[in-house]
This record gives sequence, structure tokens and C-alpha cells, in this order.
Amino acid sequence: MTVHIGAKPGEIAETVLLPGDPYRAKWAAETFLSDVVCVNEVRGMLGFTGTWKGNRVTIHGSGMGMPSLSIYVNELIRDYGAQTLIRIGSCGGMQDSVKVRDVIIAMAASSISTPSLGIFKEFNFAPSADWSLLKAAVEAAEAKGTPTHVGGIYSGDVFYDERPDLNEQMTRHGILGVEMEAAELYNLAARYGRRALAVLTVSDHLLTGEALPSQDRESSFGDMVEIALEAAFA
Ligand code: ADE
Repeated sequence: MTVHIGAKPGEIAETVLLPGDPYRAKWAAETFLSDVVCVNEVRGMLGFTGTWKGNRVTIHGSGMGMPSLSIYVNELIRDYGAQTLIRIGSCGGMQDSVKVRDVIIAMAASSISTPSLGIFKEFNFAPSADWSLLKAAVEAAEAKGTPTHVGGIYSGDVFYDERPDLNEQMTRHGILGVEMEAAELYNLAARYGRRALAVLTVSDHLLTGEALPSQDRESSFGDMVEIALEAAFA
């Protein structure tokens, strides 16, 4: 057990999928895994371990924002030995070519600050995805026929950001979407030599104001979970 994860040693798989929402972790585990066991409930953050096509997988909530993700990913890597960590989450679209329900596979994650800023200071580290996972996820998305975009995203600290100039610059520089976790996941994976990727479903759009109705979310998020699982075990 760690400060924030109640799982016993050996109860966390080497492959961990990380939705922000603990109830999405429950839904994904119950929908896609067999022999599912709940391995964490500390502070309402749910984690489940099961099998997918004979492979052990844990699906564990990360919470919202990089400080929360940093707690869980540090403990999953350092205390439980997680090797492959894939964020599955939602993002806001930032390009006209990106539509609500599309999938974004994040090649790199820009940020203004992350919990790693204290280490990097003036050094502008470029948090990037693991190439083998990225390649496998793109192939899985192509095989499924899911409308998918591959490129840079932005991991912000502020959901209700009142800086339209920032969004404009992101769009101008080709950023595909905004979310709040991937950059620190990539930082931690780089630091500890683990594989990381973020596969995101576009749930809303900053240019059009469109948002996915909550009843449509599960079916759209299913594609993303399958792409992540296929990539993890390719
Ligand atoms: N996650 C989903 N949509 C988002 C948005 N518009 N901004 C930040 N994170 C998000």
C-alpha cells in the first residue's frame, strides 16, 4: 500500500490505463476486461485490475490535473512497477479539422507549467510519447476506422482559462487539443524510463463551442479504450 493507493503488492499490472474519472475507470474495466478486481478505493479514486485478451491490465483513475496525476503515476511507477502507462481521457478540440468524437493521439504535450517545473527550471523539456506505443495506437485506430489525429496537444492547469490569446496561439501553432494531464505523464515516464501515451477523445470544441452530450460519451470513449489496449499489447 502507498499513501494514495490501497492495492497490495502484485495487485497492479505492468500495464496501466489512466482515465481522469474514477467512474470511467470502473466503466472501462467492467466493459473491456475479464476477471475484474477493485484494487483501490482510497479517497474515492478507483482502480481495477483484470485481463484483456489474456493480458493483465490495471485501469486506475488519475484525477483531474497534473498535480493529481503526478501522485498516482509516481506511486504506480515507483511502488508498483508500472511499465506502460496510457492516459485515456477527453480533450477540447483546437483545430477546425478536429471534430467532436474524433480521437487525438498525443505525440507531444506542451504546457506552461507542470509539477516537474521545479526540476526543469529554465530548461524547456519537450514531453513526448513513447514511439512504439504511438505507432501501435495509430495502427489500431486506422484498423478500426476511427477518425484520428496525431500531433501536439496542450496540457493546461486551468480549465476555465480566461486567456483567449493563449488559445489563439495554440491553434496558430497547430496544437490539436487541450487537456490537463498528459505533459506530466510524459515527464514522469521519461524520468523513470517507462512507456507512456495519451489517447484522447474530443469531448468539446474551443472554436465551435460544441460539446458532446453526456449520453454520447460512453460510446465515443469506447473506441479510445480499445485503441489504448491494442497499442499496449501490440
Ligand atoms: N478536457 C476536456 N475538454 C477540455 C477543455 N476544454 N479544456 C481542458 N481540459 C479539457
